[in-house]
Amino acid sequence: MIDLLRGFGRHQVVVWRLSLDLPDPLLRYCLEVLSPDESARMRKFHRPHHRRRYGASQGLLRWLLAACLGRTPKSLQFVRHRWGKPCLRDGGDLNFNISHSRECLLVAVSRYVAIGVDVEAVHPLHSMEAMARRCFAAPELAYWSGLPRGEKQQAFFRLWTLKEALMKATGRGLGMGVERCVFSLDPLRLLALPAEYGGPDDWWPYELAAGGGFKASLCVQGGEVRVTQHALPAEVLLSLSPQAAAAQGVEDGGGSTEVPHRTGHEQ
Ligand SMILES: CC(C)(COP(=O)(O)OP(=O)(O)OC[C@H]1O[C@@H](n2cnc3c(N)ncnc32)[C@H](O)[C@@H]1OP(=O)(O)O)[C@@H](O)C(=O)NCCC(=O)NCCS
Repeated sequence: MIDLLRGFGRHQVVVWRLSLDLPDPLLRYCLEVLSPDESARMRKFHRPHHRRRYGASQGLLRWLLAACLGRTPKSLQFVRHRWGKPCLRDGGDLNFNISHSRECLLVAVSRYVAIGVDVEAVHPLHSMEAMARRCFAAPELAYWSGLPRGEKQQAFFRLWTLKEALMKATGRGLGMGVERCVFSLDPLRLLALPAEYGGPDDWWPYELAAGGGFKASLCVQGGEVRVTQHALPAEVLLSLSPQAAAAQGVEDGGGSTEVPHRTGHEQ
């Protein structure tokens, strides 16, 4: 097993970008390592591509964290904090956070420090002005309102992903209050957050390169860190594990992978 985190220190965060639209043989390796709960959750998605993407995200996360820890994907156990933030039950000092939008999956990993990551597909929002008035704090709204029309959409998603990354880093999520997490884009800084989560110097924002059509941000607890980003094709990830590499030599049986479906609420 190759150690994905060789030489990885306390002041470092790595963010991997993966595609959730996997060919059937690779998807099968993901589905094979899901826990019963994850498989059950996957079956609740009505639309096949939503089921496939959910199965891919959980499976790829397992393969990736297993490669970081030198463990097998199935041996990992997740627990959730009060507001839903997942962490490893016995992952030692390893922290992670994931975000997905359409086919894009980001997985951020750190040691010791809390992290949050968010990616959003940039798309037209009819209610963008109303959302900005509702979700942006006064200084953000003043900055955003003064931008030329052609720059507003990009700036909206930059601010939005920064806010979500912070809310995910603290673990509180949206309940923290989007309008209470205040950023400046130029220069990039956290200006304010609810006092119970510390001061603006306690959390460091970063903007990530998420590929065309996406905006993505990262927030890190503590202080400045080195952030590295990598695109990680699923076949490369799977080839890092002798178990998966051996399995890839096995005939896959052909046909398409039908992700099991159970009626229920779409998530
Ligand atoms: C976390 C949250 C911001 C999701 O954001 P999103 O843009 O819809 O989704 P993303 O793809 O970026 O992130 C989803 C992932 O974040 C992680 N996550 C879930 N809850 C989280 C939390 N509280 N903090 C950090 N990460 C969390 C999970 O890994 C999740 O993946 P999954 O859906 O496959 O299980 C949102 O669900 C939230 O606020 N949850 C907290 C619950 C809560 O307080 N709700 C009150 C709403 S007012």
